Amino acid sequence: MIITIDGPAAAGKSTAARMLAARLGFRYLDTGAMYRAAALAAIRAGIDWKDASQLEPLADRIHLAWQGSRLFLDGEDVTDAIRSPDVTEATRFVADSPKLREKMAELQREIGLSCDLVTEGRDQGSLVFPHAECKFFLTADPRERAKRRVADYAAQGKPLAWEDVLQAIVERDRADASRPVGALRRPPDAVEINTDGLTVEEVVAKMEGIVREKQAKPSRSRCG
Ligand code: DC
Repeated sequence: MIITIDGPAAAGKSTAARMLAARLGFRYLDTGAMYRAAALAAIRAGIDWKDASQLEPLADRIHLAWQGSRLFLDGEDVTDAIRSPDVTEATRFVADSPKLREKMAELQREIGLSCDLVTEGRDQGSLVFPHAECKFFLTADPRERAKRRVADYAAQGKPLAWEDVLQAIVERDRADASRPVGALRRPPDAVEINTDGLTVEEVVAKMEGIVREKQAKPSRSRCG
């Protein structure tokens, strides 16, 4: 079974997706991390990541591989390095490259071929897995999302101003929605969950209930 979770930045997708996957015994795929790794590769290669023609060759050159929850770029574990604000900023430009998106989608589908999957991103239900058995779309008010992001960073000892985070989130929403390929869209058959005022446990419980209902209906079985 493929479960897709899409939605804007900081809507609580990652934590919910990870928890849902653990409860179901499915593999969890963080597709944002893959775009972040490509952005890190662009930064390291000194590429002008605002120039699409410079990004295209990168798509053929980089090698991404997951080992459990760790992501490797050309053999190096970059799981932590891809979380820096510089990488976050570059990623939304890098994610505009159609060539790179094609490569990422291919990799994601390959992973989905072999296992039951909870996959999280922007285009998973709309473009990468249009036939997924279960689709979710998580939303939350941008002000609430900024508040959560500030709390996440504060927990890591990195104080950020709420206004700056809110502005960055609004900017990323705009970029995510207006990308020519792989733009953030709610698939018509996705269940939308507004996470405002809900704890992550409540969000996961809601999703798990829907998945279990689908699982109870007869369908093809796949590896766990
Ligand atoms: O979910 P995240 O913040 O780690 O995503 C990082 C960036 O990658 C963000 O700018 C949106 C982009 N992204 C994308 O374009 N498509 C995806 N499937 C996942 C993320």
